[in-house]
Amino acid sequence: MSKRVVLAYSGGLDTAVAVKWLTERGYEVIAYMADVGQERAFKSSKSRAYKAGAVKVIIEDLKKEFVKDFVFCSLKANALYEDGYLLATALSRPIIAKGLVKTAHKENAKYVSHGATGKGNDQVRFEVAIRGLDPKLKVIAPVREWELKTREQEIEYAKENKIPIDTTKKKPYSIDRNLWGISIESGKLEDPYYSPDENIYQITKGVDKAAAKPVYVELEFKSGVPVKLNKKKMDGVSLIMKLSKIAGNAGVGRSDMIENRLVGIKSREIYEAPAGWTLYKAHRALESMVLDRELAHFKDILSLKYAEIIYYGLWYTPLKQALDKFFDHTQKCVNGTVKLKLHKGTCTVLGRKSPDSLYREKLATYGEGDEFDRTLAKGFIELWGLPYTLKK
Ligand code: ARG
Repeated sequence: MSKRVVLAYSGGLDTAVAVKWLTERGYEVIAYMADVGQERAFKSSKSRAYKAGAVKVIIEDLKKEFVKDFVFCSLKANALYEDGYLLATALSRPIIAKGLVKTAHKENAKYVSHGATGKGNDQVRFEVAIRGLDPKLKVIAPVREWELKTREQEIEYAKENKIPIDTTKKKPYSIDRNLWGISIESGKLEDPYYSPDENIYQITKGVDKAAAKPVYVELEFKSGVPVKLNKKKMDGVSLIMKLSKIAGNAGVGRSDMIENRLVGIKSREIYEAPAGWTLYKAHRALESMVLDRELAHFKDILSLKYAEIIYYGLWYTPLKQALDKFFDHTQKCVNGTVKLKLHKGTCTVLGRKSPDSLYREKLATYGEGDEFDRTLAKGFIELWGLPYTLKK
C-alpha cells in the first residue's frame, strides 16, 4: 500500500520543499490548501505543488466556517492574548487541522503533515488538534526533521529540484495571514529594540500615511456577533473584509509585542488586525451596557483563560466546549449598535445603544428626573464597610 500523506500546504517555500521532501521519502503527497482569507495566489501555488511532485492539490474555501465557528467564538469571548494579540494565526490552526483530517479520511491517507517549525506554537496547535480529532493519524513535520538548516539551503534544494520559487524578492520576515489578521516575525524583528520599518506592515497604514480625516463606522450586533456595518446587512466574511480595509486605512489595529510562546521562549511579533480591533472595542462597549457587573467581571476572567486555550492549541477540548456554552449564554443580550471613530491609528467609541440595555438614565442622572433613592446609600455604605471597622 502506498504511503499517502495529506500536507497542509501554504504555497510558500517551506511547504513546497516539504512536498518534494516527502515525495523523495516514498510518500504520495496530496497538497491541501485551506483558504482562510490569506489572499494568496492560489493558482501559482497549485502549479508549484504539482511541480514539486504532489499527486493532487485540493483548495478548500473555509472562510465562512472560519469566521462563524472560530473568529466569532473568539470575539464573543473577547479573547486577547497578553494584551495585544487577537490570535489570528492561532485561530486558523484548528480549522486547518480539521480540514486536513477530513481530507485524510476522504482520500484514505494514514498520514498528515504540516510545515510548522520545531520551535514555534503552530506545531503544537496542529498536532494537538489532529490528535484530538483522530489519534490514529500519523503526523509528519518535515521542517522539524529535515537537514536544511537555513533559508539559503532550502532555496538551493528547491533549485536543484526545479521547484519554482520567488527568489527575486528577498523575504526578510515570516508572515502569516488570514482574514482576521497578520502575524509578522523573524529577521530584523528579532532585535526587540529594533523599530519596525513602515514597509513591514501589510494592511494598516502608519499614522503619517493614514487618512487625514476621521472615518466613522457603525456596527450592529446580534447575540454578540456583528451583522451590519454602516446600516448595511452583511455576512461575517464580507463585513470583516470591508471593515479591515476601512480601519486599516485609518491606521487602526497594529501591535508590537514580546510574547510568551508555548515552548517556553519569548518572541517578538508584530500584529495587524484592523477589523479585529475595531470589532473587539465595539463588542466590549456593547457588553458594558448589557451585562450586569458580576457577569461582566467574571466573563473577563474567563476571557483570559479562553485566549490561553486558543493560543495553547487546546481548541478541541472539553474546557473549550464548556466555555463556549457559557459565552453563548452571555451573548443572548448582546444586541445593539455601536458607533466609532477611526482616525490616525486610534479607534474611539463614540456611542452605543441597545434594546437590552441595563443603563437607566433616570438612575444615573445628576439632573432633572432623578429616581435614585439616595437615602438607601447611607445604610448600604455602613454595612459594606462594617467588616473594616471592627479592628479599631
Ligand atoms: N506568534 C504567533 C502565534 O504563535 C504567530 C505565529 C506565526 N507567525 C508567523 N509570522 N509566521 O500565534
